[in-house]
Amino acid sequence: MRSTLGVGFLGSGPVTQAIHLPTLARLADQFTVRHLNDIDAGVAETVAARAGAAYSTSLETLLDDPLVDVVAICSPHAFHAEQAIAACRAGKKAVLCEKPMAMSGDEAATIAAVSAETGVPVLVGAMHTFDPGWRAAVAQWGELPTASHTIRSSIVLPPNARFEDLATEVLTRPDFPSLDLSDVQVRAAMVHAGVMGLAVHDLPLVRSFLSRYDDLNVLSASLLTPFGYRILMVADSKVVELHAVVSQTWQPSWVLEAYADDQVLHTEFTPSYVHAGSAVSTLTTAESAQVFGPSSSNGYEAEWLELAAVVRGEVAPPDLDGLVDDLRFTVAVADAAAEAVRSADRTEAAA
Ligand SMILES: NC(=O)c1ccc[n+]([C@@H]2O[C@H](COP(=O)([O-])OP(=O)(O)OC[C@H]3O[C@@H](n4cnc5c(N)ncnc54)[C@H](O)[C@@H]3O)[C@@H](O)[C@H]2O)c1
Repeated sequence: MRSTLGVGFLGSGPVTQAIHLPTLARLADQFTVRHLNDIDAGVAETVAARAGAAYSTSLETLLDDPLVDVVAICSPHAFHAEQAIAACRAGKKAVLCEKPMAMSGDEAATIAAVSAETGVPVLVGAMHTFDPGWRAAVAQWGELPTASHTIRSSIVLPPNARFEDLATEVLTRPDFPSLDLSDVQVRAAMVHAGVMGLAVHDLPLVRSFLSRYDDLNVLSASLLTPFGYRILMVADSKVVELHAVVSQTWQPSWVLEAYADDQVLHTEFTPSYVHAGSAVSTLTTAESAQVFGPSSSNGYEAEWLELAAVVRGEVAPPDLDGLVDDLRFTVAVADAAAEAVRSADRTEAAA
């Protein structure tokens, strides 16, 4: 019997190379990388050689590989749903799907249904949701989810490539076409993409303070340059502000705050790609401040360790209804923010 779980990757791009392979190298007692798949044969072959694994360019070849127990989906967003469903149907032991889980609530619900039918657990790689510094605060925050009235997410990051290059030598990157930002449809699409690609990390955390989001009202949304967004919205009668800027900053910052009248949560997360320990959360009242973290383990390690524990039957699989709701919330915010960008443009044109 094999003592480690064999891992196969669908998509061998920067996230596989700079996030998951270094993480699994630290968890070699639990995982062995067995198979790298990519539609680009050169990328699959080169990354597989680094990992001492097999490679392929077809989904079926990876799913047929008996050494692959766990499928990690690190392809572009649009493929996540079909690949997660195929991995469940192939009877693998677990699936780790990078965020976003899918591109629509219906796609996410189909993944959940197939996971339930096949008994294959699906985890979503929104690493902050697994972060020990976040989870420790969640365990101690008492009435904060109901009492909070203001939630604020602020992200200031250099481009991903800066961190990818610090972690490894990334083989290829997609070309970014130059975009005409005077076109409102382009600006709306970029805000939508910002929510689906970046805010998606924090929206499950934001949702833990909301008992509903069917009343979601985006008050304003704008694209920030060179890339980012600012979205002000109300849901469950609470004010939520989402702010992100990607610039050449030397000092990254990733903060989530929740305010109630008698308690404040302030969490500072490590940025994506950074293998440097956990978030630090501070819960402050008028009488005291409690600090949680840092822990030496980050959210990436924690998600893989949780997956291994789920496969061993030591912890319950993730609540898929909750993950589907996270995705529905994310899509609702993305759609409403994009519409707010278009609406502001119409108002300006009419003035
Ligand atoms: N958790 C995090 O911190 C984090 C950070 C950045 C990105 N991500 C997510 O990880 C995923 C991958 O990101 P990336 O930056 O590596 O993306 P990328 O687009 O740069 O690379 C993806 C790779 O997948 C390959 N590919 C394309 N279509 C494929 C298919 N159908 N099957 C197999 N491979 C295919 C591409 O050739 C490329 O090598 C995205 O969904 C992204 O949202 C997560």
